[in-house]
Amino acid sequence: MDDIEARVVDNRNIVSNYFLLRLKLAKPMGIVRPGQFVMLKVPDKNIFLRRPFSIFDYGRDIVTIMYRVVGKGTEALCKAGKNEKTLVLGPLGNGFTITKRDVCVVITGGIGVAGVHLLIKTLKHDASIFYGCSSKEELAVIKDIMERNPAIATLDGSRGFQGDVVTLFRNQMKTFKGKNIEIFTCGPEGMVKNIRKQIEKWKTPCQVLVEERMACGFGLCFGCVVKTIDEKEPYKRACKEGPVFDLWQLSL
Ligand SMILES: Cc1cc2nc3c(=O)[nH]c(=O)nc-3n(C[C@H](O)[C@H](O)[C@H](O)COP(=O)(O)OP(=O)(O)OC[C@H]3O[C@@H](n4cnc5c(N)ncnc54)[C@H](O)[C@@H]3O)c2cc1C
Ligand code: FES
Repeated sequence: MDDIEARVVDNRNIVSNYFLLRLKLAKPMGIVRPGQFVMLKVPDKNIFLRRPFSIFDYGRDIVTIMYRVVGKGTEALCKAGKNEKTLVLGPLGNGFTITKRDVCVVITGGIGVAGVHLLIKTLKHDASIFYGCSSKEELAVIKDIMERNPAIATLDGSRGFQGDVVTLFRNQMKTFKGKNIEIFTCGPEGMVKNIRKQIEKWKTPCQVLVEERMACGFGLCFGCVVKTIDEKEPYKRACKEGPVFDLWQLSL
């Protein structure tokens, strides 16, 4: 893990408030595992705290981040232009563990895809992908995943199943019967809780990337703790022990 100088290559609006940012690093970041993240200095002198972003992609000293504008930091970030200087601390945290399964099922929605994009890329064609969003326009966010034939749910029914992604997954669960599956997910807490409800009976293995608010990003401030069922040490740092956790260890 290093704090690396970087310059903006491009910072492109994909659709609505989704952006894709590519940063050229002054030196290589080392080995990056799917699910790891960086703490990014927003290039704005009024914003002091770094912001955590999943590594959407990495190669040839270029780190790509996909982000949604939600507040002060990301509003400033979307104004960063070509060649603007910044700092990237990473790769941070423990990413996904890829084990041998019959099927890896990735369930995500909205900006959650940023956390599992590198995983999907790594899994190549061994993954069954479920993606949920508001309407077909938002599918621009998963343009490069479309060729993998993901199962799609849109809330307005403009493409694929009309409804939420967990209901779509539930409707297709029987296709995985008798198979040794593992679920990988990243998305809003409501979605994760809903997945848990659907697979509670079978305790299907499931790894979840949690997006807690963070301050330092490397284990010092304890500002990012999540509660687990570990009786001795229930509170784990999302930035250090996570951000990927075993769903069944989390106290949701
Ligand atoms: C490990 C990790 C990976 C992440 N990866 C991505 C990513 O790839 N793309 C992306 O767009 N976002 C990602 N996030 C969330 C991202 O860090 C926040 O959206 C960002 O810090 C918000 O900054 P802001 O100043 O714009 O918003 P703020 O002004 O700080 O907050 C605006 C709103 O966003 C909510 N918010 C702030 N931080 C978070 C958070 N960490 N999780 C959920 N809600 C939050 C606040 O509650 C508030 O409602 C990740 C977070 C973590 C912890
Ligand atoms: S953000 Fe400081 S300990 Fe996790």
